[in-house]
Amino acid sequence: MKKMGTSGRVSTRELPVSPGEASETSRAIRAAALGVVLAAGAGAAEAASHGKAVYGRTCVACHGSDGKGALPGMRALGGKKGSLGKPDDALVKSILEGYQAPGAPVAMPPKGGDPSLTGQDAIAVLRYMREAFGR
Ligand code: HEC
Repeated sequence: MKKMGTSGRVSTRELPVSPGEASETSRAIRAAALGVVLAAGAGAAEAASHGKAVYGRTCVACHGSDGKGALPGMRALGGKKGSLGKPDDALVKSILEGYQAPGAPVAMPPKGGDPSLTGQDAIAVLRYMREAFGR
């Protein structure tokens, strides 16, 4: 008797996470929730171009240069019904921990598959996506 309905998804909570990584995630989520975007040093323009660089390096392969999705079955990030309608803290969590929409044929890997992606990178790239794709 197998449990159905979870579409084979492994909860990221069950995966071993180093304590440093976990606190980085929660710090980034808290920063995003408070709207603190790269408060440590970087100016707004710098943050935007950093976010763009992260997107071009790690995210564009799946999400496409227009954010509409490069893999079959993916939904657009921007626009009225796009995922970017969710609050910053939820999206930063999805970027850092991975995400699969219910019933979606493909899943997003944690950190977009780049283990070196930091919480600040996640906040910067989210900011870039909001500017570039709307919402
Ligand atoms: C291997 C492919 C892949 C890569 C690489 C990838 N994503 Fe995703 N991403 C997905 C898929 C698939 C979804 C779910 C799309 C859907 O809702 O249909 C998704 C969803 C998202 C969402 C919406 C999450 C939510 O809570 O609704 C955001 C934000 C996002 N990705 C940002 C990024 C960022 C930023 C990067 C680069 C750091 C990235 N993605 C790299 C495949 C990818």
